Amino acid sequence: GSEGHIHDVAFSFEGPFGKYDQQQLRRGFQVYREVCAACHGMKFVPLRTLADEGGPQMDPAWVRAFAAELDEVYDPETDETRPRKETDMFPTRRGDGMGPDLSLMAKARAGFHGPYGTGISQLVNGIGGPEYIVSILTGYTGEEVEMAGSIFYENTAFPGGLISMPPPLSDELIEYEDGHEASVHHMAEDVSAFLMWAAEPKLMARKQWGFVGVLLLTLLTTLLYLTNKRLWAPHK
Ligand code: HEM
Repeated sequence: GSEGHIHDVAFSFEGPFGKYDQQQLRRGFQVYREVCAACHGMKFVPLRTLADEGGPQMDPAWVRAFAAELDEVYDPETDETRPRKETDMFPTRRGDGMGPDLSLMAKARAGFHGPYGTGISQLVNGIGGPEYIVSILTGYTGEEVEMAGSIFYENTAFPGGLISMPPPLSDELIEYEDGHEASVHHMAEDVSAFLMWAAEPKLMARKQWGFVGVLLLTLLTTLLYLTNKRLWAPHK
C-alpha cells in the first residue's frame, strides 16, 4: 500500500540531551489506561517500572493498588489465576477487535524514511516511531468504508490508508489529573511519549553514559596523541 503521511513532533526526549517529561509521561499513561488499554496490551512492560525514576514515577503504593485492579493473571506454578501484582506485566489483549501489543510499538514503526533510502531524514529527525503513533491518532479523515463485512476507517498516516482501529480519541475524552487541556492532539502526543518510554525506559541513562563515553574517549585520544608525540620526539 501507499505510505502514510507522518508529521514531525518536537518531543522533549529527542536529541543527545533529551529527557522524558515526567508530567507528560503521567498524562500519557492516563490516556493509555483509560482509552488504549481497552484494546491493546503491553505484555513486555512490568507494572513496577511505572514507579521507576526517569519514568512516570508513580507512587509504588499506587502502582500496587493499580496492579490489583487489573485482570487476574494465570500462574503456571499453581495452575490457577491470581490477582495481578506490580511484579507482573501489563495485561495482554486478544480476540476480536483487539489491537496489536503496544510494548514496543514506538520502536517497531518508522515515521521517517529516505530520501531515496539513504536514511538521512532519520538521522536528522529520529526514527519517528512516536511521530508515527501521533500521526495515526490524529490522521482520521472521518470517512468509513465497509469491506468484507468489516468497517475500516480512512487514516492519512496508516500505510494503505484504511485502518480497522476506530478513532480512539476525541476532544475532552478524558479529564487530565493535572488539569492539562485534553485535545486530541495533546492526548496523542502524551500517549506517544508514554509508549516511547515503555519501549525504551532506559533512554535517559543510555544518553548520559553515551556522553560520558564520548568524554572519556576524547580524553584518551588527547593523551595518546601527546604520548605519541613525546615518544617519537627524539627520533625526528
Ligand atoms: C492498531 C495505537 C486505542 C484497536 C493500532 C496501532 C497503534 C495503535 C499504534 C498500530 C498501527 C500499526 O500497525 O502500524 C493505539 C493507541 C490507542 C489505541 C495509542 C489509545 C489512544 C484503541 C482502541 C481500540 C483499538 C480503544 C479498540 C476499540 C486497534 C486495532 C488495531 C489497532 C483493531 C489494528 C488496526 C489494523 O491493523 O488495521 N493502535 N490504539 N485501538 N488498534 Fe489501537
